[in-house]
Amino acid sequence: MERQLVWLSTVILMWFQAIQGAYGLPQFGSKSSQAAPAAGTTSFKTQYPPNADRILTPATQGVYHFSLERDGHPSLQPFPTVISYKTPTPETNPSGTEIHTSKSPFSSVPQVDNPDPASSSVSPTLPSSSSDAEGRKGPVTPVALSTSYPEIPVKGTDTPSTMASQDVFQPISSDPIPTNIQSRDDHPVPKLGIVNATGPIATNKFYAGFFLGNRSCATFTHPYSISWAQGTGNAGSWGISVSHIEAEQLAFGQPNPKIPGSPASNYINPIGIQSLILSATELSNSTVLNVEQPTAFSAQIVLRPQNGSSQSITFPVVQGMGYVTGVYNDLQPNIQSSIGFQKVVSAGSPRPGVFKYRVTLEDNKSWLVYVIPANGTDPDLRLESNTLLCGPSGFSGIVQVTKNPAGDAGEKFFDNSAGVYPVTANVTGSVSNTTGTYSFNWEKAGKDASSTPLLMFALPHHVESFDDNTRARQIALQLRTTTKGNATAVIGESWTMVEPDLPVDMGFAPWSPTRGSVTNFSPAIQQVIRDIAPTELQQDMDAETNLDSMYFSGKALSKFATLVYTVNTLANDPQLAASALSTLKACFARFVTNHQKWPLVYDNVWKGVVSSATYATNDSGVDFGNSYYNDHHFHYGYFIHAAAIIGSLDPSWIDENKAWVNMLVRDAGNSAANDPLFPFSRAFDWFHGHSWAKGLFASWDGKDQESTSEDAMFAYAVKMWGNTIGDKSMEARGNLMLALLKRSLRNYFLMESTNTNQPAQFTANKVSGIMFENKADHTTYFGTNLEYIQGIHMLPILPCSAYTRNQKFVTEEWNAMFAPNASDPASTVTGGWKGILYANLAIIDPKTSYQFFSQPNFDYSWIDGGASRTWYLAYAAGLGGSP
Ligand SMILES: *[C@@H]1O[C@H](CO)[C@@H](O)[C@H](O)[C@H]1NC(C)=O
Ligand SMILES: *[C@@H]1O[C@H](CO)[C@@H](O)[C@H](O)[C@H]1NC(C)=O
Ligand SMILES: *[C@@H]1O[C@H](CO)[C@@H](O)[C@H](O)[C@H]1NC(C)=O
Ligand SMILES: *[C@@H]1O[C@H](CO)[C@@H](O)[C@H](O)[C@H]1NC(C)=O
Ligand SMILES: *[C@@H]1O[C@H](CO)[C@@H](O)[C@H](O)[C@H]1NC(C)=O
Ligand SMILES: *[C@@H]1O[C@H](CO)[C@@H](O)[C@H](O)[C@H]1NC(C)=O
Ligand SMILES: *[C@@H]1O[C@H](CO)[C@@H](O)[C@H](O)[C@H]1NC(C)=O
Ligand SMILES: *[C@@H]1O[C@H](CO)[C@@H](O)[C@H](O)[C@H]1NC(C)=O
Ligand SMILES: *[C@@H]1O[C@H](CO)[C@@H](O)[C@H](O)[C@H]1NC(C)=O
Ligand SMILES: *[C@@H]1O[C@H](CO)[C@@H](O)[C@H](O)[C@H]1NC(C)=O
Repeated sequence: MERQLVWLSTVILMWFQAIQGAYGLPQFGSKSSQAAPAAGTTSFKTQYPPNADRILTPATQGVYHFSLERDGHPSLQPFPTVISYKTPTPETNPSGTEIHTSKSPFSSVPQVDNPDPASSSVSPTLPSSSSDAEGRKGPVTPVALSTSYPEIPVKGTDTPSTMASQDVFQPISSDPIPTNIQSRDDHPVPKLGIVNATGPIATNKFYAGFFLGNRSCATFTHPYSISWAQGTGNAGSWGISVSHIEAEQLAFGQPNPKIPGSPASNYINPIGIQSLILSATELSNSTVLNVEQPTAFSAQIVLRPQNGSSQSITFPVVQGMGYVTGVYNDLQPNIQSSIGFQKVVSAGSPRPGVFKYRVTLEDNKSWLVYVIPANGTDPDLRLESNTLLCGPSGFSGIVQVTKNPAGDAGEKFFDNSAGVYPVTANVTGSVSNTTGTYSFNWEKAGKDASSTPLLMFALPHHVESFDDNTRARQIALQLRTTTKGNATAVIGESWTMVEPDLPVDMGFAPWSPTRGSVTNFSPAIQQVIRDIAPTELQQDMDAETNLDSMYFSGKALSKFATLVYTVNTLANDPQLAASALSTLKACFARFVTNHQKWPLVYDNVWKGVVSSATYATNDSGVDFGNSYYNDHHFHYGYFIHAAAIIGSLDPSWIDENKAWVNMLVRDAGNSAANDPLFPFSRAFDWFHGHSWAKGLFASWDGKDQESTSEDAMFAYAVKMWGNTIGDKSMEARGNLMLALLKRSLRNYFLMESTNTNQPAQFTANKVSGIMFENKADHTTYFGTNLEYIQGIHMLPILPCSAYTRNQKFVTEEWNAMFAPNASDPASTVTGGWKGILYANLAIIDPKTSYQFFSQPNFDYSWIDGGASRTWYLAYAAGLGGSP
């Protein structure tokens, strides 16, 4: 009987195909205007894709969103205020002796012929052993993907169970919020549609479009993106629309002739293309969308026809999900398309109770629809129109859709896992010696869930670091992601990734892959440091750290802590460092006692510690949007770094300050998923392997991040604070985060010439610029000079810089942009950016870097307010630059 019904529906559908075209297709042809950048201002001239002569409507072409979606105060340079000195002249040291006597303070240093070495030829070359030293195995060899369904190996067989393995996700603390921090229940951003969630809400995660703004911005799960259609598009649907973008749909910005290869200045995936939509006849403009059970890796998006209705569709939204799944409860399914159905074929039941339909859209793309009715009855979908495929009323069960890029072979894989879906996920991880492993574990549900394996999509950096067991479960099924290359399907409910090269020996001293941590400086270098440090120790630390910005204040504290460490430890002169250390503690105490200009408050709505600046000014962008949860890992990372140094120099300081600093770590990068006060890992996205800086701002193109180096700074600060306070789990977590960053930055942000994850037209930019989930823009929020765009991925220069910034990358970037014959020679760059470029140069050419910082008559305007010449000099010396 059932067989007959399937046959019958196939015949009916074939009949519909035969007359397809009768469903209003002509409407496409008439709207042939250019896909206008409807939203935002056009700040870039953009070439449309070469195939732009085909049907051009927002429904099929989408909308390219050009504006940057600034959400902080964009015009600020990432430097603190002008450097201020306590004494009128920076040329005197504390005891008043002249520094620049006739005898050069650098007399122990062979003098540099040219005062600005960059004006001579600088051609950094890679040490021959560099690739080995960086632990890289050369170009990634493509792994042969199974074209047959893989045998699922027994889980965990190749994960060595070592005695000394350290769990990286132990809770940081359960301390209450310090009493001097006021708690407020009036955060300016309302929790739209978030119901029954009394705990912390992740503010910087991928599904925030469902609760911010008008709630129509997309959620990028990779490879799919989904959004609430809200009555838009040809289908006029109120369901959840599904989009998948191919490479030929990208728009590219103007070529930049200042960079060899003239790369496009940006690339943008279109938004608003509603390939398929999961909806129901009952959904209309009174539909209510709720966000339930939000976690770091998932949320349940629930549509109900009216508020309080018991009828619903629940979408478990999980990063990497292989299908978009709607779990229906007593509604009539509408599977819609604003591109238009070209052909729908009922394709039988690959497994009992699973009903399959093959769909070809008007853009010729193939999708699969699986329907799994709770009562097992053939749903008998009917093609009602060019935009509507309709199911039975009162339906309960599962509807899943997926694009199939691989014909019959792809279909076989999708058939095997249809009916099950991930509900949520967690990450577990451990570190043993220099090897870290971490795993994603999915909770699944659906039809025959226990015996049906999940199909999930992995990003290139996952695939690169899979353990053998996980690698064996990859299959020959790939779909492009919007900004992270091709995703590869993997069968099973967990993956394990291995990071074999953790920087466990990295401390506060200069560090490089070849030399490790360099703490022993020759007496001559120590003397050089002692000679120049007094100038910078004379800065007015109190003024420079007492600002109306957590970012700039933290940055200044981190700078002074690094300076104090350099003098105290590397130059071995605790006496010279002593008074600065004591001033530093006093400056830090202003924040611990919450007496800074904009004190911190505990936001009891989203749950987190934010600046009170927005509450006081009504300006959402003040202090880069700290009150809206932008950039917490940057802002608090600098404080955590400063604290790590202070505590290591004076362990007696730790007790009194530990609770406050731990609070910052818990806010920006919590290790516990069940902390009632803070969400898990606010900034760092364990799936993507890097952080997202954007907080509670609606954004067409999703979350974004501008500074990968400050992201690494946070991970490094966590590692070092863990080390200082003896929290082994925190230290190991920081190490593992650095390893993930090193890998994800190389794959997506710091583009070597061999990078294939980013479009070929874009990679010659060397850095991604601001990377969103849906576009990359080689620019900054504060200006377009090359040294800004590249430099914001360099600063601050810290021991972790030479770990996350590969020599091959730094060399290519330098030669393309900052070498003497390039378009923006470092020698001609002005201001603090010059110092940043030369400190970065130490990674590949420490000698030239050292010469630059040791030159007589050094111009201190080359040092930005967040750095010191003293540290830069020590850094270059430590990496091998001193004579
Ligand atoms: C919230 O939780 C209560 C109690 O568990 C439940 O009755 C109610 O339906 C839930 N509301 C929503 C919108 O899920
Ligand atoms: C959402 O807001 C954006 C900009 O604020 C606007 O362009 C768009 O039309 C809105 N969408 C809906 C469905 O209201
Ligand atoms: C909702 O749709 C109905 C029927 O189409 C219309 O009468 C009503 O004005 C709409 N309501 C809103 C708030 O748009
Ligand atoms: C839905 O109903 C609940 C209480 O029943 C109410 O708190 C909430 O504001 C309503 N939501 C909408 C969107 O009307
Ligand atoms: C779809 O394929 C047909 C036949 O190959 C072709 O004529 C048509 O132009 C294609 N349509 C689109 C939108 O690519
Ligand atoms: C199963 O549910 C559908 C509604 O989706 C209904 O039309 C059908 O009659 C039900 N079948 C049985 C056997 O109850
Ligand atoms: C730890 O790792 C280092 C470097 O990989 C290696 O030399 C050393 O033998 C390892 N120690 C242990 C106890 O495994
Ligand atoms: C992680 O998720 C898996 C699968 O749902 C579950 O078995 C495990 O207990 C979870 N572990 C933690 C630490 O939450
Ligand atoms: C902030 O906005 C609110 C509401 O618009 C207003 O009542 C308040 O006076 C404003 N405060 C400041 C400092 O502008
Ligand atoms: C990604 O997949 C597409 C389509 O299969 C292929 O053309 C492209 O070469 C792939 N890119 C990489 C880096 O593997």
